Amino acid sequence: MVDIPCTDKELFLLKKIASVAEELAVEAYLIGGFVRDKIIGRPTKDADIVCMGDGIALAHKVAEKFNPKPTVAFFKTFGTAQIKINDFEVEFVGARKESYSYDSRKPEVVPGSLEDDQNRRDFTINALAISLNKADFGKLIDPFGGLLDIEQQNIQTPLDPLQTFSDDPLRMMRAIRFATQLGFTIHAETFQAIIDNAHRIKIVSQERITDELNKIMLSTKPSIGLDLLSKSGLLKIIFPQMMALHGAENVEGLGHKDNFYHTLQVIDNICETTDDLWLRWAALLHDIAKPATKRFEPGHGFTFHGHEVVGARMVPKIFTQLKLPLNEKMRFVQKLVELHLRPISLTKENITDSAIRRLLFDAGEDIEALMLLCNADITSKNKAKVKRYLQNFEIVRERLQAVEESDHIRNWQPPVTGELIMQTFGLNPSREVGIIKDAIRNGILDGLLPNNYEAAFNFMLEKGAELGLKPIT
Ligand code: CTP
Repeated sequence: MVDIPCTDKELFLLKKIASVAEELAVEAYLIGGFVRDKIIGRPTKDADIVCMGDGIALAHKVAEKFNPKPTVAFFKTFGTAQIKINDFEVEFVGARKESYSYDSRKPEVVPGSLEDDQNRRDFTINALAISLNKADFGKLIDPFGGLLDIEQQNIQTPLDPLQTFSDDPLRMMRAIRFATQLGFTIHAETFQAIIDNAHRIKIVSQERITDELNKIMLSTKPSIGLDLLSKSGLLKIIFPQMMALHGAENVEGLGHKDNFYHTLQVIDNICETTDDLWLRWAALLHDIAKPATKRFEPGHGFTFHGHEVVGARMVPKIFTQLKLPLNEKMRFVQKLVELHLRPISLTKENITDSAIRRLLFDAGEDIEALMLLCNADITSKNKAKVKRYLQNFEIVRERLQAVEESDHIRNWQPPVTGELIMQTFGLNPSREVGIIKDAIRNGILDGLLPNNYEAAFNFMLEKGAELGLKPIT
């Protein structure tokens, strides 16, 4: 018996399922992540029930016992059904034997025993089952030593890892994701099998791969998983641009830091201050163009000029490749990558208000996120240097706040719009409209032009005249 700290509601529901299973004369067991997480003491969100019979029929019968009756969502082809009761999701499935052909993800499924079902699961810690049957309600069925593996913080497959990974190569990423989330170690033989089979990740859909990658990114210390992905050979296949960050070259005694491990440190740093997945992605991608922009200048050392601009341009391609959303989340990441050096440049002496205004304008409402990224980007081992950087950032923060308070630049729009420029000169959208608009914006940000409609309108007329344009009214 194992002590599973279920809530009263969970226990009520499990007992209800047990009594319905008895009524239908089918054996039923709690299995998988719910059992694992309860033993570990992690929060659980959904439970899997496996039965020796028809999982869909069991789900329907359980649903009937509740008022109001919950909807049963079922998938005949997979033999699975889900119901949701009081925010608690339960999935039912008939025990199965599955085998996959070598080059596809389409399983052949036939009914099986509990043992068959446990055999086909990914890791010993996920193959633990708890009986919901009258004779031994609550008994833990642990044929592979999953409980011991939880105690010893060990991730290994129940069968020969080659077989388990061959059945579903995504499990290689799941192993790394669980190691990251739980802080467990992947057993040597299991990890060797990942190295040997890394190439097989290619048959898995990008969506499933990215799902795991995001779960790694959302964990407390993503560096664990990203490093394991790199060491296993998976990263080279799923995300070669990140792999290219590896290496600390040294020429004529002049070197640069390893950008891969620097990036991992930046990600871990930012994770201490934010749960936002996209800010975490910005940390991952902030130096992504360093390999592409790396030059050696004799006597000076390595430079990465323009890596922030080239990096921002790489973002849409990487998001497309990884099937991440091509929406405002991507634009946020792009913006942060492009701006990530700007606050640092403002720590120099004699910085004018107009430089501060420009950063406020360019960063807009993302200024806080940008400052968090810049703080996380300080990874020097030299404590005095870190202290100096942090103090300088504090000064930049104060100035940003002071300028924002006086000028309200953050959500500011210039008082003359592109629309008005087109109306005034009878223009279609064109290069001239952009030139005039930029000139007005820059004039105000640089403090050369008062921030009001009249001044901006007159300036627009002047600029138009310089370009040979005449107002049409
Ligand atoms: N499973 C598996 N192979 C997979 C995916 C899932 O063997 N590729 C099994 C595992 O036994 C797992 C269970 O199905 O515990 C449920 O899968 P899932 O809900 O994806 O994972 P959880 O273990 O519940 O963990 P999480 O919710 O964190 O993804």
